[in-house]
Amino acid sequence: MDAELRTRFQEDGAVLVKNCLDAEQLAACREAFDWAVANPGPAAFQIFDGTVHQTHNDNSNPKAKERLDALVATLPLGKILAELWGSENAWYFAEEVFLKAGGKTGPSPWHQDTSYLPWAGHHWGNAWISFEPLPQKNALGVVRGSCHGPRYDGTTFMNPDDPTEPLHGAYADPPLPRLPDVEANRDAFDIVSYASEPGDVLFLHPGSLHGGAPVDADCPDRHTLVLRFFGDDAVFNPLPDSPFTRHGFLFQKETGHLKAGEPYRSPVFQKVY
Ligand SMILES: [Fe+2]
Repeated sequence: MDAELRTRFQEDGAVLVKNCLDAEQLAACREAFDWAVANPGPAAFQIFDGTVHQTHNDNSNPKAKERLDALVATLPLGKILAELWGSENAWYFAEEVFLKAGGKTGPSPWHQDTSYLPWAGHHWGNAWISFEPLPQKNALGVVRGSCHGPRYDGTTFMNPDDPTEPLHGAYADPPLPRLPDVEANRDAFDIVSYASEPGDVLFLHPGSLHGGAPVDADCPDRHTLVLRFFGDDAVFNPLPDSPFTRHGFLFQKETGHLKAGEPYRSPVFQKVY
């Protein structure tokens, strides 16, 4: 592992690893992606239908779990993340599926995954696997070093006119700071983003502020499979008390017993390194 790459991941919260997956691994990922789109799970949603922000998204589809557990066992992603983190172990969490097509979908709202999921610690990583070449302006953006900063309130993802509309809002106890509007003030933020080719993988810490990645005439379609992992320093960090569960919306049964600060572990998460 390149020492500079490790430093960049640990300080910035995002790095691109070139030529990370070979053609066979990439084809297996694409097959899993296409299956996921054809077989959406209970968390699948289409946001901003009929607007320029329209996106198809899916998350931790239980019907896909067996095939994705088998897939990640054949991929080097857990090992790479363990080396980026400096962790002895790596576990696979679950997938996300992102599809933008048609060349007219605007930027996705900026957010931290940790506003929705009860996670803290340094050893978290999302592997962004995109199947098209992406110019830098169409790539996911990450605010450099924001994984070390505050946990902001999430966006509801429901208001195309207000991409920072608070998820927990006044219900949160204690309250979370409102998201900054990164997209409207891009020049005020130090944004990391990388042009990439199929086979390259973007690794980011899910506590980073990330978003953007519009599609346009230069990059009309973006199909991205995200595989999420964690390592030794991954702890349970409950969401604020609110009408939303403190344990987040995924794997509630498996992680519902965890208390604040306990290692984030469950037999449901496959060890991959
Ligand atoms: Fe995210």
